[in-house]
Amino acid sequence: MFYSNKQYGIILSKKKKEANLAKYLIEPINKLRGEITVSGAKNGVLPIMAATLLSTEPCIIHDVPSLKDVSVMVEIIRVLGAKVERKGSDMRVEVDEIKRTEAPYEYVSQMRSSFDVMGPLLTRTGVARVPLPGGCAIGERPIDLHIKGFKALGATVEIGHGFVEARAEKLVGASIYLDFPSVGATKNIMMAATMAEGVTTIENAAKEPEVVDLAIFLNKMGAKISGSGTDTIRITGVEKLTGCEHTVLPDRIEAGTFLIMGAMHDSDLLVKNVVPSHLKPVIAKLIECGVDITEEGDDLRVVSSGKLKAVDITTLPYPGFPTDLQAPFMALLSKVNGNSTIMETIFENRFAHVSELNRMGAKIKIEGHSALIQGIENLQSADVKATDLRAGAALILAALSAEGATTVHDIYHIDRGYNKLEEKLGNLGIHITRIIE
Ligand code: EPU
Repeated sequence: MFYSNKQYGIILSKKKKEANLAKYLIEPINKLRGEITVSGAKNGVLPIMAATLLSTEPCIIHDVPSLKDVSVMVEIIRVLGAKVERKGSDMRVEVDEIKRTEAPYEYVSQMRSSFDVMGPLLTRTGVARVPLPGGCAIGERPIDLHIKGFKALGATVEIGHGFVEARAEKLVGASIYLDFPSVGATKNIMMAATMAEGVTTIENAAKEPEVVDLAIFLNKMGAKISGSGTDTIRITGVEKLTGCEHTVLPDRIEAGTFLIMGAMHDSDLLVKNVVPSHLKPVIAKLIECGVDITEEGDDLRVVSSGKLKAVDITTLPYPGFPTDLQAPFMALLSKVNGNSTIMETIFENRFAHVSELNRMGAKIKIEGHSALIQGIENLQSADVKATDLRAGAALILAALSAEGATTVHDIYHIDRGYNKLEEKLGNLGIHITRIIE
């Protein structure tokens, strides 16, 4: 069933109101024993869903996490013409006809990665109109590099009245240098170039595993992409793309969050369904803290005494330490023995969790782009607020090792990116209760 924009708005604001009232009550733990399984990657599945707009044929996607962001992307592509069916973690998407070339503001305003539909719409229909995604809790987040790419491919791009509109009679391959290896721009340009005439090269491309997974998906659709995972991606345009079947890569950020959780306690925890090579910097830093991590095929075992040493961290584009694990790692460092520093180089405003961790007794100071963390013996329970997805994860980790029960408010942020979190943590004997007032 298709809804008008107004109807979408009403449904959305109802859901939003319910979600906004939810909070977690979390009790601390002493020991952690057992296993926990990682789901398909949020940041992997979202561009893949956008890429389904490139073909008239059905695409089957497996291991789709049940997340709020995924539901938002479903609604966006439905408005654009997709028929989406979901069964458990399987999704079938068919877009025999693009019904609209304008993405709805109600959804795009909720989630920046909805901008991913721009490249596919442009190359399939020659026109794409997407609301400006705007900044968010972690930074300004411009889209200049996406636009630079579309223009280089021959599109005219206009920004006005809160929209970005790109038009092209035909896209023609070009050589595009990204001033920064932006994940979003690399994915968007890669998708736009799949059906451009001739060869496109993206220099200084993002090397994140989610970019590689998208390239694999696009190649299964018949695209000709080589070099993903390196600085230079080469795309030879093809006439049309077909349907395909794909399993989303495991979520390295969810995996990293569980590894950090294991490290913070007296633990023997098996984190299942991971690609260990995607987590190299996180594993290296945890080992430096004094944790034992061993590979067991597609699983990682974390064994810890919970008594850890201070380390310094700098966030960097992949394969550097991921910015998405900066906040969770800060929760860990807030109670290690000694002083640590975290330098955030990807987003200019990704320290909102600091004041919340300090409410729990942490001793963290911000100096420019760095956080100086003085490790303390014990965190205390408090009422705290998730200011964004990863800040929320950090607060859950802090709550699990605080004295007393902690209430984390505004957990709708956490619902955006952690699949079945209560169930997964509950299976480990953790008491985490969702309260809706
Ligand atoms: N940037 C520009 N111009 C652009 C694009 C990006 O200046 O045109 C800047 C951004 O402002 C930022 C930096 O480049 O300072 C990195 O942005 P990037 O484009 O690489 O990130 P993104 O695609 O917007 C994705 C993830 C983020 C993750 C970053 C970095 C998705 C849906 N989101 O965002 O994930 O932090 O890459 O790895 O893939 C999260 O999951 O919590 C999350 C925020």
